[in-house]
Amino acid sequence: MAIQWFPGHMNKAKKDVAERLRGIDVVIEMLDARLPASSANPMIAQLARRKPTLKILNKQDLADPSVTQQWLSWYRSQPGTQAIGLDAGERAPSQKLIAACRELVPNRGGLDKPLRVMICGIPNVGKSTLINTMTGRKIAKTGNMPGVTKGEQRIMLADDFELFDTPGMLWPKIEVEEGGYNLAASGAVGRNAMDEEEVVLELLKYLLQHYAAELSARYKLDDISGMQDWQVLEMIGKKRGAVLGGGRINIQKASEIVLTEFRDGLIGRLTLERPDEWAVWKKRAKELIAERAAAKQAREQEYAKRANGKRNS
Ligand code: G4P
Repeated sequence: MAIQWFPGHMNKAKKDVAERLRGIDVVIEMLDARLPASSANPMIAQLARRKPTLKILNKQDLADPSVTQQWLSWYRSQPGTQAIGLDAGERAPSQKLIAACRELVPNRGGLDKPLRVMICGIPNVGKSTLINTMTGRKIAKTGNMPGVTKGEQRIMLADDFELFDTPGMLWPKIEVEEGGYNLAASGAVGRNAMDEEEVVLELLKYLLQHYAAELSARYKLDDISGMQDWQVLEMIGKKRGAVLGGGRINIQKASEIVLTEFRDGLIGRLTLERPDEWAVWKKRAKELIAERAAAKQAREQEYAKRANGKRNS
C-alpha cells in the first residue's frame, strides 16, 4: 500500500533529532502498544544507537495484555533498553517514567548531574496527552491530527530531571507492508493517505487469525471460521445496516464502522503484531527490497547494453 512520504520533512526531523541528542542521557520512544514495531521510527533507533533507551508501550488499555507482556520482555532483552506499559489512565506516569530512566543511567542524578531525557514518537501515539498529564496543564495540543508538528519544549519533571519534547515526528518510510497497514488501522496515518477498504480487509484478516471470538461477539456473527476477510466485512455491513439500493453492501460505511470500533477499543483489547511475526515480516520485506534493487540493477545494465549496441550498429 502506498503511503505518502515526505523525505524533506524527514531529513529535517533527522537533523533536529541528531542535534538534540547531544547531551541527552536517555531517549524515550513512545510506541503504540497495539503495534509496537510498526509505530517505531527506525530513524530513532539509528540515531540513538548507543544511548540508553526507554520504550513506552502506550495505550496499553487498548492492547492485548498478554502480547504487551511479550513485547515488554522482548524490548528488555535488548541491550541498554528498558520498557514500560502505560496508558492515559495512569495516575502518576511521571513516577514510572522517572524510575525507568534512573534505572537505565544510575550514575546520573542530583543537581550537579541532572538527568536529561528526550521523548519522541510518531503522531497520535499519545505523547501530548502524556505530557499534559505529567505537567498538570494543557501545554501541548492534543487531538487527532497526524502530522502536526509542535515546537520543542523542556519540562522539569523533578529538580534533577529534564524532559525534552521533540517536535512532531512523521511516520517513517514504510518498508514492512504489514506495518503500513497496522499504522493505518491505528489512525496514525491520515485518511487521505490510505485506502480504507484495503486497510480494513488486512485488519479483518489478522483478527480472524488471532481474535475471531472477539470479532464474532462484537458483530454477533455466527461461525466465521474458514471465512474470508471480505465475507466478514460484508456480514458486518449487513448486520449494521450499511446497505445500498438493490441490497448491495456499502463497503465504505462497513469499513468505517470496523475502523472506528477498532480504534475505540470496542472490539476488544487487540494487538496487531507479535515479536516473532514482526521478525518474519521484516525479513520478507528486506528480501523484497533486495530483489527489487537487483531487478533494477539488471534493468539498468540491460538499458546500457542496448544503448551501446545501438551506438555500435
Ligand atoms: P500525539 O501527541 O502523540 O499526537 O497524541 P495525542 O496525545 O494527541 O493523542 C492522540 C489520541 O490518542 C487522542 O484521541 C488521545 O485522547 C488518545 N490517547 C492518548 N493516550 C491514550 C491512551 O493511553 N489510551 C487511549 N485509549 N487513548 C489515548 P483523540 O480521539 O484524537 O482525541 P480526544 O479523544 O482526546 O479528544
